[in-house]
Amino acid sequence: MIDVSTVFAYHERTKHHFRRHAQSPGYMDWANQPHPFRYYDGATETQLALDRAPPPLAYGRIYELNASPPALVCIGSVADLFRYSLALTAWKHAGTNRWALRVNPSSGNLHPTEAYVLLESTACEDEFPTLYHYVSETHCLERRASFSKDIWNSLTRNLPAGSFLVGLSSVVWREAWKYGERAFRYCQHDMGHAVAALRLSAVLCGWEFKLVSSWSTDDLASLLGLNRHEEFSPEERDEPALLAVVTPNTSAAKLAVDFPAPAKGTIEEIRLAQWYGRANQLSREHVAWPVIDDVTATTRMPRDATLATPPCELVSHWQPFGPAPNVDAQQVIHQRRSCLALDGRSRVSRDIFLRMVARTLPGPHPPWDALYWPTTIHLALFVQRVDGVTPGLYLLVRDPNKKRLLQEAMRETFVWQTPPGVPTSFPLYLLIEGDCRDAARSLSCHQDIAADGFFSLGMIAEFAEPIRRHGAWFYRNLFWEAGMIGQVLYLEAEAAGARSTGIGCYFDDPVHEVLGLADNQFQSLYHFTVGVPVEDDRLHTGRPYS
Ligand SMILES: Cc1cc2nc3c(=O)[nH]c(=O)nc-3n(C[C@H](O)[C@H](O)[C@H](O)COP(=O)(O)O)c2cc1C
Repeated sequence: MIDVSTVFAYHERTKHHFRRHAQSPGYMDWANQPHPFRYYDGATETQLALDRAPPPLAYGRIYELNASPPALVCIGSVADLFRYSLALTAWKHAGTNRWALRVNPSSGNLHPTEAYVLLESTACEDEFPTLYHYVSETHCLERRASFSKDIWNSLTRNLPAGSFLVGLSSVVWREAWKYGERAFRYCQHDMGHAVAALRLSAVLCGWEFKLVSSWSTDDLASLLGLNRHEEFSPEERDEPALLAVVTPNTSAAKLAVDFPAPAKGTIEEIRLAQWYGRANQLSREHVAWPVIDDVTATTRMPRDATLATPPCELVSHWQPFGPAPNVDAQQVIHQRRSCLALDGRSRVSRDIFLRMVARTLPGPHPPWDALYWPTTIHLALFVQRVDGVTPGLYLLVRDPNKKRLLQEAMRETFVWQTPPGVPTSFPLYLLIEGDCRDAARSLSCHQDIAADGFFSLGMIAEFAEPIRRHGAWFYRNLFWEAGMIGQVLYLEAEAAGARSTGIGCYFDDPVHEVLGLADNQFQSLYHFTVGVPVEDDRLHTGRPYS
């Protein structure tokens, strides 16, 4: 029997309620604001090229397999992978304040996600296979460890030539500094954004990108050196999250699922390898959040975890609505920004609205082909200003097999009608007509952006049953899927000449009440809004790298 009580308890106590927010410091302790970038002091740096880019690609094609010819895996092409996924895209200035923005968004712009890459010696032009840490501030790689060829061969024996590994982790303290107990959720959202950003950037390089399901969190900690506790401040540990296999060989579609866990001997050899650097200290003082420690420990992937249900074959329900936007993918990826305010006026056509939400539908194509678990998230849409679509509450059932389950769980009075002009094969349903602007605003912590756009939404996850079935570790995956949906919507908004924002602040149970969801069978995990932004003239924008 899997014990999921810690995870359910964490989720419950980190809900925001109308009269009570999840526990947080309640003020901004500026003196201890975490340093925005992680470095490994003492590690050698390799500067990545800034004057190069993958071949141009029409934006719509980043959702296609094999859209670009596979690039040779080398330091230059790995630079491209990061430049279009996790690099800086601008420095913002307001008065004396200055902060960086990146390709990937982050709750509170606190960026807990760290990235590591393990390259073969030929790819990194080093004598040994090398583990690097990516530093977005300088767009460079820090050499974290040199591994023997035996380690490399043992880890990658099942992989096609040219493959390499990318590992991601979260420095949870960054988010906890501001958000307290709810921070663990935000780290997972951010992780999902980073996964989608990497998967789509890999398309530009002509590479496959698959998450690995067979490695435990402990194994990943060993590979990335995150269990070398003496090299980190104890409160600022970097929590391993996931491992991905990147390969230029497109014939390896089922690869990561079969990618074996490392042998015990290999893990020991990794421990004894040559390691470099010590993590910089991010804050002088810290606040302890024991419930985060508990949920972090409980949701680690155990060594013997298997998916209780094999990953289903993804069927695409995507359909083209109207002509694809005529924009370049690299430009869209680099111009992505969150809106601070929406104009509360502009409208969008039905086709563009449908095109945006259709992109979130899973299928055997990027970015969804990166995942190893069945689809769990559906979209409750507050439609506000879409020409040809009656304002109201709608549901996009991302896995149409779940329609019945959702119908049974939600309000009996919902009408479940396919909106006029929408093909019946498209899994979008009107639940109830009406002006939902006030509801959307109130439910998203009274934020105007949730009411002033074309539409906003809550991501409704199948919650208790998948966590019970797979294990507590699956709690993280639910948020990762939500973050990926967010990343796609960010790009879709930009491609349509609009703008969007992820919304982590919402009142959990009031959302469930609106939908008639009585227990934790389904839970809203992330909100989002899309519309036309109002720019803030006080902010100035500088180049990401000088
Ligand atoms: C998980 C997540 C939750 C967020 N929640 C909110 C929110 O509740 N309200 C808001 O105005 N912005 C929110 N944002 C937007 C961030 O503030 C924004 O991503 C960050 O400031 C960086 O700016 P950028 O997205 O333009 O790069 C959220 C972003 C993410 C990824």
